[in-house]
Amino acid sequence: MSSTRKPVVVYGASGYTGRLVCEYLREYGVPFVAAGRSADKLHAAMKANVPGIETADYEVVEVQHGTEALTELFRGASVVLNTVGPFAKFGPEVVQACLAAGCHYTDTTGEQDWLITLDQAWGANFEAAGLLLSPGLAQMYTTGEIAAQPCLETPGLDTLDIAVFWGGSPTIASTQTILVNAATSKAFHLQQNRYVEWQPDAGLYSLAIPGQHEMALALPWGGTWHPVWFRKDPRVANVKVLGGVFNKPLMLGVPKIVEAALKATEGMNEEDRYAELAQTAASVMNAMPPRVAADRGDAEELTERELKILRLLKAGLGNRELAQSLCLSEATVKWHLHNIFAKLGVKNRTSALARAQEISLL
Ligand SMILES: NC(=O)c1ccc[n+]([C@@H]2O[C@H](COP(=O)([O-])OP(=O)(O)OC[C@H]3O[C@@H](n4cnc5c(N)ncnc54)[C@H](OP(=O)(O)O)[C@@H]3O)[C@@H](O)[C@H]2O)c1
Repeated sequence: MSSTRKPVVVYGASGYTGRLVCEYLREYGVPFVAAGRSADKLHAAMKANVPGIETADYEVVEVQHGTEALTELFRGASVVLNTVGPFAKFGPEVVQACLAAGCHYTDTTGEQDWLITLDQAWGANFEAAGLLLSPGLAQMYTTGEIAAQPCLETPGLDTLDIAVFWGGSPTIASTQTILVNAATSKAFHLQQNRYVEWQPDAGLYSLAIPGQHEMALALPWGGTWHPVWFRKDPRVANVKVLGGVFNKPLMLGVPKIVEAALKATEGMNEEDRYAELAQTAASVMNAMPPRVAADRGDAEELTERELKILRLLKAGLGNRELAQSLCLSEATVKWHLHNIFAKLGVKNRTSALARAQEISLL
């Protein structure tokens, strides 16, 4: 395997998150390498899950999960987007390879212990090399960090008390990562700029969330990465983060699942423990959430007839054939097309088809 000329490498591109990253790189016209441990899986994932992939400037590269092979691949790239988690387990080789190859490192972690490891073991080296070390570019917990920024603009506020509540369901890998993290790592909050451990057996916390009538149940979820991010921020001395979902039975079940997993893996070596936890996670969550479509705007409003016309457009029918097929006049077909283009925010049928595909209407 040789070094790449593409500026971005997506490592783990066959996965749920990796494909989404590829989708946006395609949309923004950024050339990329879709890398992972199986070329077949990568090709299949690009084809089936990245709308418009045929217009992307990309290549698929199969690579072994080891520092040497990854370094060789990363040479020539600027940025690596790592989506192979749990990161505390699979991340070290990738970070080391980035440093060796002179690439900026990003990932989608939510694991606090991984952030602490990165800070302590690699932070200074990346800084000395003039490289960015930016883990955690993911939904959990970027929104909390964004919300914290305007609060910190008020002088004198030095305490962040963050509640993260989310909808939808986690992916299989996220469930696995959450369980492995909960069962094998300590969770910290920040108190006067020092890490202080959350009480491991405290169970669920009750939070009053503005705008909600019901008390919310919450957990520290391994501490989250905010205490690590903000530890060196001169404005911040204390950070506590709790989070959860508005689903009482689910929240009540989480501590029980973790407790049972801890009991079942007591005394196991690291590898056996990981395998057992992965299996437990798979039994808790064995289906991927649906891909959330891009903002559909007015496209939600497409009528059944308009959707039918879109499907016929995709089959290559011209205006006259459309009219015949739908028993309409050509003028009426044009009127429908005009409305469809307006709802999709496009000007012609090629763009309409691309847009419809992008937002999973076709
Ligand atoms: N903080 C957040 O908000 C957030 C959001 C999204 C994801 N995440 C985290 O990001 C990670 C990925 O999640 P996902 O749902 O996208 O997972 P996924 O769909 O299972 O994808 C995982 C990727 O990692 C690869 N992989 C797994 N084990 C590997 C190994 N031993 N060597 C090399 N590659 C390996 C897989 O390759 P194959 O296809 O060949 O199996 C796949 O490409 C998880 O840790 C998840 O918790 C966090």
